[in-house]
Amino acid sequence: MDVFNKISELLAEIESSSPSDAQSLETFRIRFLGTKNVIKPLFAEMRNVSSDKKKEFGQALNHLKTSAEERYNLLKKEVQLKSTQDEVSNMDLTLPVDSGFTGSRHPVSIVMNRMINIFEKIGFVVEEEREIEDDWHNFSAMNTPDDHPARDMQDTFYLKDSEKFLLRTHTSSVQARVMTNQKPPIRIIAPGRVYRNETISARSHCQFHQVEGLYIDKDVSFADMKQTLLYFAREMYGPDTKIRLRPSYFPFTEPSAEMDVWMGTDTETTKRLTKGTGWLEVLGCGMVDPNVLTNCGIDPEVYTGYAFGIGIERTAMQKYNISDIRLLFENDVRFLQQFSAVI
Ligand code: DAH
Repeated sequence: MDVFNKISELLAEIESSSPSDAQSLETFRIRFLGTKNVIKPLFAEMRNVSSDKKKEFGQALNHLKTSAEERYNLLKKEVQLKSTQDEVSNMDLTLPVDSGFTGSRHPVSIVMNRMINIFEKIGFVVEEEREIEDDWHNFSAMNTPDDHPARDMQDTFYLKDSEKFLLRTHTSSVQARVMTNQKPPIRIIAPGRVYRNETISARSHCQFHQVEGLYIDKDVSFADMKQTLLYFAREMYGPDTKIRLRPSYFPFTEPSAEMDVWMGTDTETTKRLTKGTGWLEVLGCGMVDPNVLTNCGIDPEVYTGYAFGIGIERTAMQKYNISDIRLLFENDVRFLQQFSAVI
């Protein structure tokens, strides 16, 4: 057969072939581009072509070769596209998904949210405030004298080169923020993180969390406070919970008390957290000192109020049997995963 005819025949074959799957594409590749392809032997025919046709023949052969390559690249793309389309349409969209581990709430958040919820039910409103505070809101307004040991560089993290700005040492600073901005009646809770320059150990950390409470109105009494705190304790620790109030001292309250909740000494954790007494100290509280009201522009002749500050970590540790406070701040996934079932 005339070699020119052979070339046209192969060219027509290349242009008309359209393999629809990977296997027939491979057959195409082997036939036209493989090591023993059908084009190769035609090059050897060159010597049999008369010299006036050699140039034309060479060009036709090269055209054949590049056509084969181009066609192959095009077909390859089409086959790939078709196979992903097939994959998608063959997918079973009703199959259940393995969602893996999607994260969980931190035990401190779980307890904090529970506390917020308990107080919201009786009309307390959440106030969130800054962690970087000034000396006035954290100490002066709260009736903490200049020479009070809590102001010491040892306990308070001051900002670099500043005597005025610090990381709040308690959420009581929010009391001053709210009282200077709102008029009584005031009924707020302020959850948040606080900082103290303390040596880190199994029992204490330089950061922890509190929920502050403040209630100011006419004729608020100590009995009101005690009833509210008893309600809180029973919601938080169970309906039969026993509490005790011990007289204490805080610069911003008068009289002041600390509230303990009866936990018993059944487990190693309660033994350790209660220092063997069975009583877990959960909060400080008291009647807002008249000086604090005056400092914040509220007339102590007209208004009275109570305040409290609940520590969150100790309750979280008791609830989940955590013996070392440091575990709460290390963010070890093996620890955190254990709370994935809790909301
Ligand atoms: N601010 C105190 C602390 O960090 C806790 C506290 C005690 C808060 C008595 C109060 C309170 O509101 O009335 O230890």
